[in-house]
Amino acid sequence: MSSSDRPDTLQASPYEQLVQAVVDYAIYMLDPQGHIVSWNAGAQRIKGWRAEEVIGKHFSLFFTDQDRIEGRPAMLLERALRTGVAQDEGWRVRKDGTRFWALAALDVIRSPDGEIIGLAKITRDITDRLEAAQQLDAMRAQLFQAQKLDALGQLTGGMAHDFNNLLTIIIGSAKLALGSQDSLRVHRLLEHIVDAGERGAQMTQQLLSFARHKVLKSGRVQLLALIESSRLLLAHALPKGVELQVQLGEGLQDVIVDGGQLQMVLVNLILNARDALEGEGVICLQACNCQLAGEVEDLHGAFVRLDVSDDGRGIAPSVLPRIFEPFFTTKAFGKGTGLGLSQVYGFIKQSNGAVTVASVQGEGTRMTLYLPVFEANTAASN
Ligand SMILES: Nc1ncnc2c1ncn2[C@@H]1O[C@H](COP(=O)(O)OP(=O)(O)OP(=O)(O)O)[C@@H](O)[C@H]1O
Ligand SMILES: [Mg+2]
Repeated sequence: MSSSDRPDTLQASPYEQLVQAVVDYAIYMLDPQGHIVSWNAGAQRIKGWRAEEVIGKHFSLFFTDQDRIEGRPAMLLERALRTGVAQDEGWRVRKDGTRFWALAALDVIRSPDGEIIGLAKITRDITDRLEAAQQLDAMRAQLFQAQKLDALGQLTGGMAHDFNNLLTIIIGSAKLALGSQDSLRVHRLLEHIVDAGERGAQMTQQLLSFARHKVLKSGRVQLLALIESSRLLLAHALPKGVELQVQLGEGLQDVIVDGGQLQMVLVNLILNARDALEGEGVICLQACNCQLAGEVEDLHGAFVRLDVSDDGRGIAPSVLPRIFEPFFTTKAFGKGTGLGLSQVYGFIKQSNGAVTVASVQGEGTRMTLYLPVFEANTAASN
């Protein structure tokens, strides 16, 4: 382009030349009533109109019909004239009718004696930024949904596993009851069936409460009663050669956990010990009060320590770091889901306790749970 083609630019001041050269921002002037007085290259690029098409027109031309009906251009102008500046973000319309998301500022320009002579209008097309933000929001929502589904899937899988345990108890008790002539024994077995059935119903309740975002209910749990009912429930799930010993410390304190889940945890741990024994050996369930001062996962205060130990085959050092992973199992296909210990882990995290494991291959395994003690002031604050 020769210099003779651009007489206006040549005569323009350096500031005008600068404004004209900007293509990323629409920079133009309005008179105090909102009519367009000047127009730069950026305005043409962003909005599509040439200077001769818009100069003299009212700047409400760039707004959507809806914004015009709601009086948005007039409101912006009024605010700028009153306070000296007005900023806005919203949809604007190009000459071809397409829309872009605009970030706009309107600044009052005064003469040296303070009189308002017009307004400077600077507009940026930030559609890309808006789209990026919307994409980010959509991704966040997807991630949240995926995490929730994942957790729900794990929980459902865990429940299927626990349901299986309950059905084992129900079927086992029913079979024993069918073969028994002792009415007292039949009565006790029927009680087991009712108990297991009720816990099955409780489990679906837990799943529903998770799906509805509710936290499971922690409360005061008497370990003595819970251990006794677990022992009874497990009695017929253990083969003849396996002995379950229970050793309870003096004055065992109550704990604050979800009782139904704790029972499931005990069942999971004892069934794992049973599998490790391969038909023969001793499982020991011990419970005692203890004080922690940071030695276990930085826990402090009063806890009840629960140990489930066996003299079974033990866990290989290469396997040990993985045992709490969901779906990790060394058992044959169809024998284990690999969800038992992940349920234990989830429960213990939710209960603000800890779980540790010690195992020597060929000698046995000890799983230790630390459960927070119920204290009257803890209950008050919950
Ligand atoms: N007491 C134990 N002795 C030896 N190995 C154990 C013991 N407890 C757990 N494991 C190992 O940890 C793995 C994971 O245990 P987890 O309870 O999560 O799943 P699983 O027992 O394999 O399957 P499921 O619990 O669904 O029947 C087991 O497959 C086993 O290899
Ligand atoms: Mg298991």
